Amino acid sequence: MCGIVGYTGHVQAAPILLDGLARLEYRGYDSAGLAVRNGSSPAEVVKAIGKLYHLADKTDQGRALPGTCGIGHTRWATHGDPSMVNAHPHVSGNCSGSGSGTVESDVVGVHNGIIENFTELKEKLLRHGYSFYSETDTEVVVKLVDYYYKKYKIGPVDAITRTMVRVRGSYALALMFKDYPEEIFVARKDSPLVIGTSEDASFLASDVPAILKFTRSVYYIDNLQVGRISPGSVKFYDLNGDEVQLPVTEITWDTAAAEKDGYEHFMLKEIHEQPKAIRETLGSLVREGKITLEETGLTEEMLRGISRIDIVACGSAWHVGMASQYVIEDLARIPVRVELASEYRYRSVPLAPDTLVIVISQSGETADSLAALRVAKERGAKTLAVVNVIGSTIAREADHTLYTLAGPEIAVATTKAYSAQLIAMDVLAVQLAAVRGIITEEQTAGYLAALEAIPDQIGRILEEKERLQWFSSKIANTHDIFFIGRGLDYAISLEGSLKMKEISYIHSEAYAAGELKHGTISLVEQNTLVIGVLTQGNLFEKTLSNMLECKSRGAYLMGLTTNGNFSVEDSVNFTVYVPKTDEHFLASLAIVPLQLLGYYTSVNRGLDVDKPRNLAKSVTVE
Ligand code: G6P
Repeated sequence: MCGIVGYTGHVQAAPILLDGLARLEYRGYDSAGLAVRNGSSPAEVVKAIGKLYHLADKTDQGRALPGTCGIGHTRWATHGDPSMVNAHPHVSGNCSGSGSGTVESDVVGVHNGIIENFTELKEKLLRHGYSFYSETDTEVVVKLVDYYYKKYKIGPVDAITRTMVRVRGSYALALMFKDYPEEIFVARKDSPLVIGTSEDASFLASDVPAILKFTRSVYYIDNLQVGRISPGSVKFYDLNGDEVQLPVTEITWDTAAAEKDGYEHFMLKEIHEQPKAIRETLGSLVREGKITLEETGLTEEMLRGISRIDIVACGSAWHVGMASQYVIEDLARIPVRVELASEYRYRSVPLAPDTLVIVISQSGETADSLAALRVAKERGAKTLAVVNVIGSTIAREADHTLYTLAGPEIAVATTKAYSAQLIAMDVLAVQLAAVRGIITEEQTAGYLAALEAIPDQIGRILEEKERLQWFSSKIANTHDIFFIGRGLDYAISLEGSLKMKEISYIHSEAYAAGELKHGTISLVEQNTLVIGVLTQGNLFEKTLSNMLECKSRGAYLMGLTTNGNFSVEDSVNFTVYVPKTDEHFLASLAIVPLQLLGYYTSVNRGLDVDKPRNLAKSVTVE
């Protein structure tokens, strides 16, 4: 949901800003813009519609824009359509046109987030003689800062804090003031923002990979704090304008993790990184054959005291919750409910201290998941975040945090983060069962051995990816696909269907197999593709019957099952096998062919696999 960057130092800013934006493009790609200042001359603003390369072409890869201090933005439209006029940066001046070119404005800014009361603030500013050229909430906030800056004749930090108490919503804001040539001012509430410093330059970005090439020393600015950034140094302030000290964090992972590494797309690279993501996540949770949740702060006593679990998440993370529900209930005998964060946050779900609310999130910044976490804390539940991005807001606010170690994930369609989350939740399920005395030590060891074998088993599935590549070329022109399964197979179907539709744009739905005949089967016609997931022994025949009901109505069938179930070939048109493992953990294996199927179908249709239309990886608006 929009990415922002900034640089102030002694070399040309624009190429650095474009480089940073390229690494943030997964956050939005309907338009992009830069504002750069050359000493005390006014800011030069350049914007372009569409993907970032248009902006790069327009500025000769940044070389045509002189100046050593600047900000940049890549947009995922919220207020106003993707147009030049709505693209960021936005300026405080009462200009005509789109606010681009050399602008004499006092304040120029970029923003990630949503200002909820922008209409009311806009009316106030209109009464004070401001006019507006765009439909964005960002133009309003930039002008509000300008208004306080001039009205009270105060410095940028005070003008920003006054603005912060007036606006409702979320923001990571980066602002340049005409009177402060080499400085950038930032403010944050509920949208991600990191600041980095090197010897003689400073950087800001929505996410670490955007600045990692230049520095490893970063500050995670807190909610409702302001930063004043100058070359090589940064100061932070609270809402009262008092200076606060923030710790510097050294990033230990490598930029290579955010490069394509010879793969055609990030998604394919990340599919192949799943064994590593799982091994590393397991390695942090299981040491010398024993599960250790020490780093999360969850003690065995706490785990014994839980009487209900609510898993709350969005998108694929919600699908992880759906899969974990079956595993936890079956292994640990604790009732689990799985909720969409966007719904949960607005429901009056009664919670007690013996309820554990688990928020699963790759980014740790998803607005609805964050809001659900806060609701759960307010209502007195214990909270655990299962998060991939270190230092993210959800990770910091939860009572307990379990980090998945998938590394940075760039493709919008998640793969390795999903797999790392699944494994982390499986380990948690086993530990819950063990500490509550439901499984023996021997059984625990057996489950852990099964989990430890999964990375190699995924490796074997990946060796046979050409079969899926071939099958995807056959289905590339299909209009509708139904993924069906029961129990854990239903959870796998949900994720398989999402992978397919989000990157191939083929309409696809996942159904609990038994539910299909309550309406949806009327959509099945000649050659409709029905993919049945058949990994659970006790449900195999039931789901297969549901598939055959579809076949009788013309459907073309694909079956996804475990090695050895060869009889399925008598009934379906195409079969995919995955290795056998303990049935609780089959989601980790069965999802891989479905990821590959979505991936190759998107490639066959000539689509932008890593940046599908209308989507963003980190959804920081509700
Ligand atoms: C977006 C992403 C999904 C992700 C979901 C939740 O829709 O495209 O891949 O599952 O957000 O994101 P989170 O960062 O909270 O896991």
